[in-house]
Amino acid sequence: MPGVLLDTLNGQPSEKLPVWLMRQAGRYLPEYRALRSDKGGFLELVYDHEAAAEVTLQPIRRFGFDGAILFSDILIVPYALGQNLWFEAGEGPRLAPPLVDGVWQGLKAAKQHFEGIYRTVALVRSQLSPETTLLGFAGSPWTIATYMVAGQGSKDHHAARSLAWSDPGAFASLIGAIEEATFEYLLGQIDAGAEAVQLFDSWAGSLSPTQFERWVINPNARLVARLHAARPGIPVIGFPKGAGDKLPAYARETGVDALGVDETIDPRWIHRELPAGLPVQGNLDPLLLRAGGAELENEARSIMAAFADRPHVFNLGHGIDKDTPIAHVERLLEVVRGKNLA
Ligand code: CP3
Repeated sequence: MPGVLLDTLNGQPSEKLPVWLMRQAGRYLPEYRALRSDKGGFLELVYDHEAAAEVTLQPIRRFGFDGAILFSDILIVPYALGQNLWFEAGEGPRLAPPLVDGVWQGLKAAKQHFEGIYRTVALVRSQLSPETTLLGFAGSPWTIATYMVAGQGSKDHHAARSLAWSDPGAFASLIGAIEEATFEYLLGQIDAGAEAVQLFDSWAGSLSPTQFERWVINPNARLVARLHAARPGIPVIGFPKGAGDKLPAYARETGVDALGVDETIDPRWIHRELPAGLPVQGNLDPLLLRAGGAELENEARSIMAAFADRPHVFNLGHGIDKDTPIAHVERLLEVVRGKNLA
């Protein structure tokens, strides 16, 4: 019996409002911090499939979310494409060599870097109850390119945006290489047991309309079409964070099965602008969850009300903040579940 999350992503009515939180496995959980410090490094944790499966399951045990998201990272794709990957404490990811210097020809994914992740997926699926949907994920090509080009996170994605204008041919070949690797990687996750997949385009918001069409909509549309053809029936959630008024075009033109919406969007506006029946996922401000209080409850209720007439997956508008008190997550779940009819 598929769970309520999968039903909702498929556009089916369900008796319960499904809920999960982006980045639900992570540093706000003491049990995560303990295992993370045992393993030493982030990649050590990701490639220890038993530990990674355990981290994936921690928030399910604690909160009973309707979806479990594979514990891994979007930067596994650049790692497989040949960049070294490490995390600087307190600063974030580093990829070397950065591609600003023009080494984007002939990139091809090393399968062994993906196979370790598939083992985590299979192990989680074997330990998860059938009602809990297992979500796989990858970064979308544009967001991955911003990290690969700069070699690290960057505020306005200056290096990738400059390259995309100054040498569109080279940039297209980089996007193409990421797209190929991502397609293979998501197929592998699906074949190992992922029941739906999410494409994180965390930095979609930094592009002009022309560039958004070229580097966000087009590559995601190709990925969605190829996934649908290769593995029919597996829903694809697109999350173009920051896309703003370009969201309706993204939803129409990419063919995603469900749309992730960030917290800057008025839920009543997006409900009016989207095709009827298209499932949405979102969109509580993660910093309001961190702050808690009456305003958290009011916002959560007004999001549920705005999306009452379409399939809705309750979620945050972006990843949970590492300083979020666990009691606030518990309170949010009471509010969300209080609305459930079952
Ligand atoms: O619970 C889950 O959501 C599953 C695991 C997951 C992680 N990263 C684990 C992680 C997922 C889905 C991601 C996605 C991801 N990674 C995104 C897209 C979503 C978003 O937030 O926009 C991005 C941009 C990344 C890249 C990344 N990974 C950064 C910028 C960082 C460092 C900043 C940070 O939050 O620490 C990471 C590291 C990372 N990925 C951590 C976790 C739990 C923290 C690592 C640690 O334990 O020190």
